[in-house]
Amino acid sequence: MILPIYLYGSQVLRKAAEESALDDREGLTKLIGDMVETMHHADGCGLAAPQVGVSRRILVVDGTDLVDRYPELKDFHREMINPKFTFESEETSSYEEGCLSIPNVDASISRPARIRVRYVNPAFEEVEEEFGGFAARMIQHEMDHLDGILFVDRAAPIRRKMLTGKLMNIAKGNVHPRYRVKSDK
Ligand code: NI
Repeated sequence: MILPIYLYGSQVLRKAAEESALDDREGLTKLIGDMVETMHHADGCGLAAPQVGVSRRILVVDGTDLVDRYPELKDFHREMINPKFTFESEETSSYEEGCLSIPNVDASISRPARIRVRYVNPAFEEVEEEFGGFAARMIQHEMDHLDGILFVDRAAPIRRKMLTGKLMNIAKGNVHPRYRVKSDK
């Protein structure tokens, strides 16, 4: 089921999400499936549960459409429940980021170049994996959503200032992407 995506300005995007209980496996499997479908429908490469109004620590990423630009994304897609960083490199890298909750806005963001993440996968197994390149980038962007942080918060001050008008417009609902959006304001 395709879910509406909450836009910049929504309160749910600014709350720290709660750890997800693992007992309702059927419910979790359905939510993750809906998130993947919603992400694909919107042509996105990542989505966090707060973006569909669910304040729980769940994220999905799929980089397979970006493999021409980033070869490390071959076969890269993950669905993560309760992800936690177990390592973040001191070395950083910068990439252009965008977000389905902030349509038509991008900014170059610096983040750790490599990360290790421990999470529960859709088979309900605990796994730990290391990621670099654009895969690490996608996961960190989505992890931020689980803490109520948006990529524009991390943009250089001058870039943020340039985006102020655009962000205000989105918060007012003056944006019409081709996927379904909503706001909880
Ligand atoms: Ni995002």
